[in-house]
Amino acid sequence: MLSDDLVTLRAHVAADVEPAYRMCQDPVMQQWTTIPVPYLREHAVGFITEVVPAGWQANTSWAWAIEYAGEYVGTIDLRDGEGGVGEVGFAVSPDVRGNGVMTRALRLVVRYAFDVLGWERVIWRAYVGNFASRRVAWKVGFHGLVTIPGGGRSRGVRKDEWVATVGRDDELEPKGSWWTVPVLEGDGVRLRPLREADAQRVMEACSDERTQHWLSGMPSPYTLDDAKGFIDSRQDAAASGEAVAWAIADAGTDELLGNVSVFGLSSRMDKTRGEIGYWMHPDARGRKVMAAAVQLVIAHAFRAAEDGGLGRRRLLIRCADVNTASAHVAEANGFTKVGGERRADPRRDGSYDNMLTFDLLAEDVLRG
Ligand SMILES: CC(C)(COP(=O)(O)OP(=O)(O)OC[C@H]1O[C@@H](n2cnc3c(N)ncnc32)[C@H](O)[C@@H]1OP(=O)(O)O)[C@@H](O)C(=O)NCCC(=O)NCCS
Repeated sequence: MLSDDLVTLRAHVAADVEPAYRMCQDPVMQQWTTIPVPYLREHAVGFITEVVPAGWQANTSWAWAIEYAGEYVGTIDLRDGEGGVGEVGFAVSPDVRGNGVMTRALRLVVRYAFDVLGWERVIWRAYVGNFASRRVAWKVGFHGLVTIPGGGRSRGVRKDEWVATVGRDDELEPKGSWWTVPVLEGDGVRLRPLREADAQRVMEACSDERTQHWLSGMPSPYTLDDAKGFIDSRQDAAASGEAVAWAIADAGTDELLGNVSVFGLSSRMDKTRGEIGYWMHPDARGRKVMAAAVQLVIAHAFRAAEDGGLGRRRLLIRCADVNTASAHVAEANGFTKVGGERRADPRRDGSYDNMLTFDLLAEDVLRG
């Protein structure tokens, strides 16, 4: 039995069959785990009365019932510890999610793996897109996340998989930042997280001739799937601490007008820098919306991390010297032109433009 002030991990009992069976009807549970679908009562009976005790007896897998507020709410298990490395798996019932139950349970079980089973490393695996599971693992210190295409298997279907690990000498605390994307409002502009429904507008904006010209790394032609992939990838970038991206939305209709992001946030050399990048849908250009959006982003980027900001000290904007609209956004926000690189910005026709660098220091803003 393992416990802290919120959860207790104990042996499964026959009375857990009913709540376990109910939990396994949850579509989210079915989507992200390998349980049989349809999930029958006999599956729960077999798991709790046969599979779990057999694992403990054979010393090959170790599963605990999670008790929270006096009720069975889920299961967490360790398995395959050969050579001192094994995996963890977990699930909690939908009605108690978001209360920190699994974060507590995982910390207890990882400690058990190191202190009692003598493991060196615990592996966490999840299908790509299971951000709730990824966040639990991140909170308990799992790191070095990689994506393995087709690495996961679910009822006969291969799925892309995330894998991360924690070692016995690691602190069981988050490594690196997981940025949230707050709604920022001001000057008639609203910045909010990107969402799936923005895909059409993203596709239109990124297919536009001028966007394609200045951002030559973008796919061409730019399809709806590219737009969906971009939106998904921004969630990943925030979770890995790399970047924060917002949809610039119309304050009245909430329709996407453009995109602004701060990237390069997890540079090993300097964790206090960030680079701002942006593009605008053609029908929203020329109304100073981007200048207003960047102003909101600057304030958020310079705010201390403890106060919900990005804790930056120095921001950069880079653009081709002939991209006057982009340079204007930097200058309108008080950035200083600090340098240029010759023939550094590739165009699709094989030519290169000179690139300008603008920067803004937190102290510039304080000085006003
Ligand atoms: C994954 C799971 C076990 C998490 O359990 P839980 O008790 O809700 O976990 P916690 O409350 O400790 O932490 C969940 C964290 O994820 C966050 N979260 C939830 N959904 C999220 C999402 N879609 N994107 C980002 N974060 C998300 C929560 O806000 C919380 O973080 P916070 O405390 O910082 O706000 C639960 O969602 C579950 O059982 N899912 C189905 C089974 C499953 O996926 N198992 C793992 C297979 S790898």
